[in-house]
Amino acid sequence: MLELDQVRAGYGAINVLWDVSMRVAAGRLTTIIGPNGAGKTTLLRAIMGLVPVGGGEIRLDGARLNGTPTWDMADRSVAMIPEGRMVFRDMGVEENLIMGAFHKSHRAHVKQRLEEAYEMFPRLRERRTQMAGSLSGGEAQMLAMARGLMSDPRLLLIDEPSLGLAPLVVNELFEILVRLKAGGRTIILVEQNTERAVGVADHVYLMQSGRVALSQPASEVQLQQLHDLYFAR
Ligand SMILES: Nc1ncnc2c1ncn2[C@@H]1O[C@H](COP(=O)(O)OP(=O)(O)OP(=O)(O)O)[C@@H](O)[C@H]1O
Ligand SMILES: [Mg+2]
Repeated sequence: MLELDQVRAGYGAINVLWDVSMRVAAGRLTTIIGPNGAGKTTLLRAIMGLVPVGGGEIRLDGARLNGTPTWDMADRSVAMIPEGRMVFRDMGVEENLIMGAFHKSHRAHVKQRLEEAYEMFPRLRERRTQMAGSLSGGEAQMLAMARGLMSDPRLLLIDEPSLGLAPLVVNELFEILVRLKAGGRTIILVEQNTERAVGVADHVYLMQSGRVALSQPASEVQLQQLHDLYFAR
């Protein structure tokens, strides 16, 4: 569904991604793991058009994706749930959700999507009118996920959703990922929690210093070997 071919990207004169090639199969969960600074977030940003691709190509269903402005990603059925939740703190929970369907093509479906969001995240329904800034970390992450789903994307990019959350909330989060996958969505999950990520994934990429260091079906991954590679310099 999504193909990256020899992608290079970075920030101005600083190049971060070096000839990154990946294949993301439709309806599958692909996880990208790797140490801090490996370029995982930069990779998601490159897919979203938030950093320019300086070399190589990104294709979605065979059609070139790089060069598409970020605001048109909703039209291409791609959404990102960014690192650090990024909810609008001074807005209510429901207002935050509505922002997720801001794009013209999705406005007509807001009511139905809200209902779906509340079904998947019952706690958000209870907190509908509460300011997002007063949510707990776990609730804010659920809100960020639900907002990302408001455009009903076929491809969902999720950046470190479990960061800083209590173990019980992490469990809840991974259950939701499993449900999203069962619902047929294609997911790219960036995670530091290697074991959990490999547990839900179909395919695993390990990134290091802006390069792909390992690409393996999740069923073949040996965690010990992965950790050795992960910490290798
Ligand atoms: N806005 C920016 N301007 C310049 N350099 C940046 C910018 N954002 C990130 N970088 C650099 O790009 C490299 C990769 O960063 P990136 O955030 O993609 O890593 P990451 O794998 O997501 O790390 P983490 O696990 O800490 O989130 C780092 O060396 C970082 O310093
Ligand atoms: Mg990151």
